[in-house]
Amino acid sequence: MINNLFLGIETSCDDTCISIFNNRYGVISEYVFTQLIHIKYGGTVPELASKDHLNKIFNIIFFVLKKKKINIFDIKIIAYTKGPGLKGSLFIGASVAKSLSLFLNIPAISINHLEAHILISFAFNKIKQLPALVLLISGANTILLKMFNYNNYIIIGETLDDGVGETFDKIARSINLIPPNGISIEKNMKYKFIYNNLNIGKTLKNINNFNFSFSGLKSEILRLQNKKNYIDKINLIYNFQNTIINIFIIKIRHLLTKDISIKSIILGGGVSANKELRLAFLNLSEEFNILLNYLPKKYCTDNATMIVFLGFIKIYNGYFDKNLEINIDSSLRLF
Ligand code: KG4
Repeated sequence: MINNLFLGIETSCDDTCISIFNNRYGVISEYVFTQLIHIKYGGTVPELASKDHLNKIFNIIFFVLKKKKINIFDIKIIAYTKGPGLKGSLFIGASVAKSLSLFLNIPAISINHLEAHILISFAFNKIKQLPALVLLISGANTILLKMFNYNNYIIIGETLDDGVGETFDKIARSINLIPPNGISIEKNMKYKFIYNNLNIGKTLKNINNFNFSFSGLKSEILRLQNKKNYIDKINLIYNFQNTIINIFIIKIRHLLTKDISIKSIILGGGVSANKELRLAFLNLSEEFNILLNYLPKKYCTDNATMIVFLGFIKIYNGYFDKNLEINIDSSLRLF
Protein backbone atom coordinates (compact mmCIF):
# COMPACT_ATOMS: atom_id res chain seq x y z
CA MET A 1 0.00 0.00 0.00
CA ILE A 2 1.35 3.43 -0.94
CA ASN A 3 0.66 6.27 1.47
CA ASN A 4 0.47 9.93 0.69
CA LEU A 5 -1.52 9.82 -2.52
CA PHE A 6 -2.57 12.93 -4.42
CA LEU A 7 -5.69 12.97 -6.64
CA GLY A 8 -5.73 15.18 -9.74
CA ILE A 9 -8.90 16.31 -11.54
CA GLU A 10 -8.79 18.08 -14.91
CA THR A 11 -12.03 19.03 -16.70
CA SER A 12 -11.18 22.32 -18.40
CA CYS A 13 -12.57 21.44 -21.82
CA ASP A 14 -13.83 18.16 -23.29
CA ASP A 15 -11.57 15.57 -21.62
CA THR A 16 -12.45 14.13 -18.22
CA CYS A 17 -9.03 13.37 -16.72
CA ILE A 18 -8.19 11.76 -13.40
CA SER A 19 -4.75 10.89 -12.05
CA ILE A 20 -3.32 9.54 -8.81
CA PHE A 21 0.24 10.53 -8.01
CA ASN A 22 2.78 9.85 -5.31
CA ASN A 23 5.97 11.90 -4.91
CA ARG A 24 8.13 8.79 -4.63
CA TYR A 25 6.55 6.48 -7.21
CA GLY A 26 5.20 9.04 -9.69
CA VAL A 27 1.94 8.29 -11.52
CA ILE A 28 0.12 5.41 -9.85
CA SER A 29 -3.06 5.34 -11.92
CA GLU A 30 -4.60 7.65 -14.52
CA TYR A 31 -7.25 7.89 -17.20
CA VAL A 32 -8.28 10.37 -19.87
CA PHE A 33 -11.81 10.11 -21.23
CA THR A 34 -12.14 12.11 -24.46
CA GLN A 35 -15.71 13.16 -25.14
CA LEU A 36 -16.86 12.09 -28.59
CA ILE A 37 -20.29 13.73 -28.49
CA HIS A 38 -18.90 16.90 -30.06
CA ILE A 39 -17.68 15.38 -33.31
CA LYS A 40 -20.96 15.80 -35.18
CA TYR A 41 -21.07 19.52 -34.26
CA GLY A 42 -17.57 20.23 -35.61
CA GLY A 43 -16.35 21.72 -32.30
CA THR A 44 -16.79 21.53 -28.54
CA VAL A 45 -20.33 22.42 -27.37
CA PRO A 46 -19.88 23.83 -23.82
CA GLU A 47 -23.26 22.66 -22.42
CA LEU A 48 -22.71 19.11 -23.69
CA ALA A 49 -19.18 19.10 -22.32
CA SER A 50 -20.24 19.91 -18.75
CA LYS A 51 -23.14 17.41 -18.91
CA ASP A 52 -20.80 14.66 -20.07
CA HIS A 53 -18.21 15.49 -17.35
CA LEU A 54 -20.97 15.18 -14.76
CA ASN A 55 -22.18 11.88 -16.19
CA LYS A 56 -18.72 10.30 -16.27
CA ILE A 57 -16.52 11.84 -13.58
CA PHE A 58 -17.44 9.62 -10.62
CA ASN A 59 -17.18 6.43 -12.69
CA ILE A 60 -13.75 7.53 -13.90
CA ILE A 61 -12.55 8.34 -10.38
CA PHE A 62 -13.68 4.93 -9.13
CA PHE A 63 -12.20 3.19 -12.20
CA VAL A 64 -8.80 4.82 -11.58
CA LEU A 65 -8.90 3.87 -7.88
CA LYS A 66 -10.04 0.30 -8.56
CA LYS A 67 -7.46 -0.30 -11.29
CA LYS A 68 -4.69 -0.10 -8.67
CA LYS A 69 -6.79 -1.26 -5.67
CA ILE A 70 -6.51 2.17 -4.03
CA ASN A 71 -8.72 2.99 -1.07
CA ILE A 72 -10.19 6.48 -1.46
CA PHE A 73 -9.29 7.22 2.18
CA ASP A 74 -5.59 6.95 1.24
CA ILE A 75 -5.92 10.15 -0.82
CA LYS A 76 -4.38 12.99 1.17
CA ILE A 77 -4.65 15.98 -1.16
CA ILE A 78 -6.77 16.88 -4.20
CA ALA A 79 -5.61 19.19 -6.99
CA TYR A 80 -8.11 20.45 -9.57
CA THR A 81 -8.07 22.86 -12.51
CA LYS A 82 -9.03 26.43 -11.68
CA GLY A 83 -8.82 27.66 -15.30
CA PRO A 84 -8.59 28.72 -18.04
CA GLY A 85 -11.29 26.71 -19.78
CA LEU A 86 -15.03 26.32 -20.20
CA LYS A 87 -16.91 27.63 -17.18
CA GLY A 88 -19.37 24.73 -16.86
CA SER A 89 -16.67 22.09 -17.35
CA LEU A 90 -14.37 23.73 -14.79
CA PHE A 91 -17.28 23.98 -12.38
CA ILE A 92 -17.95 20.22 -12.49
CA GLY A 93 -14.31 19.32 -11.74
CA ALA A 94 -14.00 21.96 -9.01
CA SER A 95 -17.25 21.02 -7.26
CA VAL A 96 -16.36 17.33 -7.30
CA ALA A 97 -12.92 18.19 -5.87
CA LYS A 98 -14.40 20.39 -3.13
CA SER A 99 -17.11 17.83 -2.23
CA LEU A 100 -14.55 15.03 -1.98
CA SER A 101 -12.27 17.24 0.10
CA LEU A 102 -15.10 17.91 2.58
CA PHE A 103 -16.05 14.23 2.68
CA LEU A 104 -12.45 13.06 3.18
CA ASN A 105 -11.48 16.06 5.31
CA ILE A 106 -8.43 16.83 3.16
CA PRO A 107 -7.33 19.98 1.26
CA ALA A 108 -8.34 20.66 -2.34
CA ILE A 109 -6.05 23.10 -4.13
CA SER A 110 -6.78 24.91 -7.37
CA ILE A 111 -4.26 24.78 -10.21
CA ASN A 112 -3.56 27.01 -13.21
CA HIS A 113 -3.89 24.75 -16.26
CA LEU A 114 -1.28 26.73 -18.24
CA GLU A 115 1.32 26.55 -15.50
CA ALA A 116 0.65 22.80 -15.20
CA HIS A 117 1.38 22.35 -18.94
CA ILE A 118 4.83 23.88 -18.30
CA LEU A 119 5.78 22.31 -14.97
CA ILE A 120 4.90 18.73 -16.00
CA SER A 121 8.13 18.82 -18.00
CA PHE A 122 10.05 18.47 -14.71
CA ALA A 123 8.22 15.24 -13.84
CA PHE A 124 9.71 13.55 -16.90
CA ASN A 125 12.87 15.48 -17.64
CA LYS A 126 14.87 15.37 -14.44
CA ILE A 127 17.63 17.65 -15.69
CA LYS A 128 16.71 21.24 -15.02
CA GLN A 129 18.77 23.66 -17.07
CA LEU A 130 17.57 27.12 -16.16
CA PRO A 131 16.84 29.71 -17.35
CA ALA A 132 14.75 27.90 -19.93
CA LEU A 133 12.84 29.16 -22.92
CA VAL A 134 9.32 27.73 -22.73
CA LEU A 135 7.05 27.44 -25.76
CA LEU A 136 3.53 26.63 -24.60
CA ILE A 137 1.45 25.71 -27.62
CA SER A 138 -2.00 24.36 -26.82
CA GLY A 139 -5.51 24.79 -28.21
CA ALA A 140 -6.19 28.38 -27.24
CA ASN A 141 -2.72 29.45 -26.12
CA THR A 142 0.57 30.28 -27.74
CA ILE A 143 2.98 31.71 -25.19
CA LEU A 144 6.75 32.12 -25.33
CA LEU A 145 8.33 32.75 -21.95
CA LYS A 146 11.58 32.70 -20.09
CA MET A 147 11.55 30.61 -16.95
CA PHE A 148 14.10 31.38 -14.22
CA ASN A 149 12.60 29.03 -11.66
CA TYR A 150 9.28 27.71 -10.37
CA ASN A 151 7.01 30.76 -10.04
CA ASN A 152 9.49 33.05 -11.74
CA TYR A 153 8.72 33.65 -15.41
CA ILE A 154 8.62 36.52 -17.86
CA ILE A 155 6.45 36.46 -20.97
CA ILE A 156 8.43 37.19 -24.12
CA GLY A 157 5.69 36.78 -26.70
CA GLU A 158 2.10 35.63 -27.14
CA THR A 159 -0.43 35.15 -29.85
CA LEU A 160 -2.24 38.34 -30.73
CA ASP A 161 -5.27 36.43 -32.02
CA ASP A 162 -5.90 32.68 -32.46
CA GLY A 163 -4.00 29.98 -30.59
CA VAL A 164 -1.88 27.72 -32.76
CA GLY A 165 -3.89 24.59 -31.81
CA GLU A 166 -7.17 26.33 -32.71
CA THR A 167 -5.64 27.22 -36.07
CA PHE A 168 -4.72 23.56 -36.65
CA ASP A 169 -8.27 22.59 -35.68
CA LYS A 170 -9.97 25.09 -37.98
CA ILE A 171 -7.83 24.09 -40.97
CA ALA A 172 -8.42 20.41 -40.29
CA ARG A 173 -12.18 20.94 -40.06
CA SER A 174 -12.33 23.03 -43.21
CA ILE A 175 -10.89 20.17 -45.22
CA ASN A 176 -13.07 17.61 -43.46
CA LEU A 177 -10.41 15.80 -41.50
CA ILE A 178 -11.84 14.00 -38.51
CA PRO A 179 -10.88 14.96 -34.92
CA PRO A 180 -8.56 14.94 -33.05
CA ASN A 181 -7.65 17.64 -35.50
CA GLY A 182 -3.95 18.34 -35.02
CA ILE A 183 -3.21 14.63 -35.00
CA SER A 184 -5.25 14.04 -38.15
CA ILE A 185 -3.27 16.76 -39.94
CA GLU A 186 -0.07 15.06 -38.86
CA LYS A 187 -1.30 11.67 -40.04
CA ASN A 188 -1.81 13.02 -43.52
CA MET A 189 1.85 13.98 -43.61
CA LYS A 190 2.70 10.40 -44.47
CA TYR A 191 1.83 11.17 -48.10
CA LYS A 192 5.02 13.04 -48.63
CA PHE A 193 5.03 13.41 -52.36
CA ILE A 194 4.21 16.98 -51.61
CA TYR A 195 5.96 20.07 -52.89
CA ASN A 196 6.33 23.00 -50.57
CA ASN A 197 5.86 25.88 -52.97
CA LEU A 198 3.08 28.04 -51.66
CA ASN A 199 5.16 30.61 -49.86
CA ILE A 200 2.30 31.31 -47.50
CA GLY A 201 2.58 33.24 -44.25
CA LYS A 202 5.49 35.35 -45.58
CA THR A 203 4.69 38.25 -43.30
CA LEU A 204 4.52 36.16 -40.14
CA LYS A 205 8.20 35.47 -39.79
CA ASN A 206 9.06 39.00 -38.66
CA ILE A 207 11.91 38.53 -36.22
CA ASN A 208 11.72 41.98 -34.67
CA ASN A 209 9.10 40.95 -32.15
CA PHE A 210 8.26 37.67 -30.50
CA ASN A 211 4.48 37.83 -30.69
CA PHE A 212 2.53 35.54 -32.97
CA SER A 213 -0.52 35.98 -35.16
CA PHE A 214 -2.25 33.10 -36.90
CA SER A 215 -5.59 34.45 -38.03
CA GLY A 216 -4.15 35.84 -41.29
CA LEU A 217 -2.52 32.51 -42.08
CA LYS A 218 -5.79 30.74 -41.37
CA SER A 219 -7.70 33.06 -43.75
CA GLU A 220 -5.00 32.62 -46.39
CA ILE A 221 -5.34 28.82 -46.22
CA LEU A 222 -9.15 28.99 -46.29
CA ARG A 223 -9.02 31.34 -49.31
CA LEU A 224 -6.68 29.04 -51.22
CA GLN A 225 -8.84 26.12 -50.41
CA ASN A 226 -11.87 27.81 -51.99
CA LYS A 227 -10.09 27.93 -55.34
CA LYS A 228 -11.14 24.48 -56.45
CA ASN A 229 -8.57 22.39 -58.32
CA TYR A 230 -5.97 24.97 -57.47
CA ILE A 231 -4.28 22.78 -55.00
CA ASP A 232 -4.92 19.47 -53.37
CA LYS A 233 -5.69 19.42 -49.69
CA ILE A 234 -2.63 17.45 -48.67
CA ASN A 235 -0.27 19.94 -50.23
CA LEU A 236 -2.13 22.71 -48.53
CA ILE A 237 -1.94 21.30 -45.03
CA TYR A 238 1.70 20.31 -45.49
CA ASN A 239 2.47 23.90 -46.35
CA PHE A 240 0.37 25.07 -43.45
CA GLN A 241 2.20 22.87 -40.93
CA ASN A 242 5.60 23.84 -42.35
CA THR A 243 4.75 27.51 -42.11
CA ILE A 244 3.73 27.21 -38.48
CA ILE A 245 6.95 25.35 -37.61
CA ASN A 246 9.08 27.87 -39.52
CA ILE A 247 7.49 30.80 -37.71
CA PHE A 248 8.49 29.29 -34.37
CA ILE A 249 11.97 28.28 -35.45
CA ILE A 250 12.88 31.58 -37.13
CA LYS A 251 11.75 33.69 -34.17
CA ILE A 252 13.28 31.46 -31.52
CA ARG A 253 16.59 31.14 -33.39
CA HIS A 254 16.76 34.93 -33.41
CA LEU A 255 15.99 35.03 -29.70
CA LEU A 256 18.64 32.42 -28.86
CA THR A 257 21.20 34.43 -30.79
CA LYS A 258 20.32 37.54 -28.76
CA ASP A 259 19.95 35.92 -25.34
CA ILE A 260 22.88 33.63 -24.64
CA SER A 261 21.81 32.99 -21.03
CA ILE A 262 19.17 30.44 -22.10
CA LYS A 263 20.26 26.91 -21.24
CA SER A 264 17.32 24.82 -22.42
CA ILE A 265 14.06 24.81 -24.36
CA ILE A 266 10.86 23.34 -22.92
CA LEU A 267 7.99 22.43 -25.23
CA GLY A 268 4.53 21.99 -23.73
CA GLY A 269 0.85 21.83 -24.74
CA GLY A 270 -1.04 19.71 -27.27
CA VAL A 271 0.69 21.02 -30.40
CA SER A 272 4.10 20.02 -28.97
CA ALA A 273 3.08 16.41 -29.70
CA ASN A 274 3.69 17.18 -33.39
CA LYS A 275 6.54 15.05 -34.75
CA GLU A 276 7.85 17.46 -37.37
CA LEU A 277 7.80 20.31 -34.89
CA ARG A 278 9.78 18.28 -32.35
CA LEU A 279 12.31 17.37 -35.03
CA ALA A 280 12.75 21.02 -36.02
CA PHE A 281 13.33 21.95 -32.36
CA LEU A 282 15.75 19.09 -31.89
CA ASN A 283 17.83 20.48 -34.76
CA LEU A 284 17.61 23.98 -33.29
CA SER A 285 18.73 22.80 -29.84
CA GLU A 286 21.69 21.01 -31.43
CA GLU A 287 22.57 24.14 -33.39
CA PHE A 288 22.81 26.11 -30.10
CA ASN A 289 24.09 23.19 -28.03
CA ILE A 290 21.31 23.48 -25.47
CA LEU A 291 18.99 20.90 -23.94
CA LEU A 292 15.53 20.23 -25.43
CA ASN A 293 12.81 18.96 -23.05
CA TYR A 294 9.62 17.58 -24.52
CA LEU A 295 7.06 15.20 -23.13
CA PRO A 296 5.60 11.79 -23.91
CA LYS A 297 2.70 12.61 -26.27
CA LYS A 298 -0.05 11.77 -23.79
CA TYR A 299 1.27 14.44 -21.42
CA CYS A 300 1.36 17.14 -24.11
CA THR A 301 -2.43 17.24 -24.40
CA ASP A 302 -4.81 17.75 -21.47
CA ASN A 303 -4.27 15.31 -18.60
CA ALA A 304 -4.75 15.24 -14.84
CA THR A 305 -1.19 14.14 -14.11
CA MET A 306 0.08 17.66 -14.88
CA ILE A 307 -2.53 19.09 -12.47
CA VAL A 308 -1.66 16.74 -9.64
CA PHE A 309 2.09 17.16 -10.24
CA LEU A 310 1.82 20.94 -9.95
CA GLY A 311 -0.34 20.43 -6.85
CA PHE A 312 2.51 18.43 -5.37
CA ILE A 313 5.06 21.14 -6.25
CA LYS A 314 2.84 23.82 -4.68
CA ILE A 315 2.37 21.89 -1.45
CA TYR A 316 6.12 21.19 -1.40
CA ASN A 317 6.71 24.95 -1.68
CA GLY A 318 4.40 25.67 1.26
CA TYR A 319 1.22 26.67 -0.61
CA PHE A 320 -2.15 25.87 0.96
CA ASP A 321 -5.61 26.78 -0.29
CA LYS A 322 -7.84 26.89 2.78
CA ASN A 323 -10.65 28.55 0.86
CA LEU A 324 -13.85 26.50 0.84
CA GLU A 325 -15.27 28.35 -2.15
CA ILE A 326 -15.37 26.73 -5.56
CA ASN A 327 -12.44 28.48 -7.12
CA ILE A 328 -12.67 28.69 -10.92
CA ASP A 329 -11.68 31.33 -13.47
CA SER A 330 -12.49 30.55 -17.09
CA SER A 331 -10.20 33.27 -18.42
CA LEU A 332 -7.32 32.76 -16.00
CA ARG A 333 -3.95 33.95 -17.33
CA LEU A 334 -0.56 32.42 -16.66
CA PHE A 335 0.26 35.10 -14.06
O1 KG4 B 1 -3.04 21.13 -24.64
P1 KG4 B 1 -4.30 20.73 -25.30
O2 KG4 B 1 -4.83 19.35 -25.04
O3 KG4 B 1 -5.50 21.69 -24.95
C1 KG4 B 1 -5.45 22.89 -24.34
O4 KG4 B 1 -5.05 22.92 -23.14
O5 KG4 B 1 -5.82 23.88 -25.03
O6 KG4 B 1 -4.08 20.96 -26.84
C2 KG4 B 1 -5.05 20.64 -27.78
C3 KG4 B 1 -4.58 21.12 -29.14
C4 KG4 B 1 -5.64 20.90 -30.20
O7 KG4 B 1 -5.82 22.13 -30.85
C5 KG4 B 1 -5.02 19.84 -31.09
O8 KG4 B 1 -5.41 19.95 -32.44
C6 KG4 B 1 -3.52 20.08 -30.93
O9 KG4 B 1 -3.40 20.41 -29.55
N1 KG4 B 1 -2.71 18.90 -31.25
C7 KG4 B 1 -1.83 18.86 -32.27
C8 KG4 B 1 -1.29 17.56 -32.28
N2 KG4 B 1 -1.85 16.86 -31.25
C9 KG4 B 1 -2.72 17.70 -30.64
N3 KG4 B 1 -1.47 19.80 -33.16
C10 KG4 B 1 -0.54 19.46 -34.07
N4 KG4 B 1 0.03 18.22 -34.16
C11 KG4 B 1 -0.32 17.25 -33.28
N5 KG4 B 1 0.23 16.05 -33.36
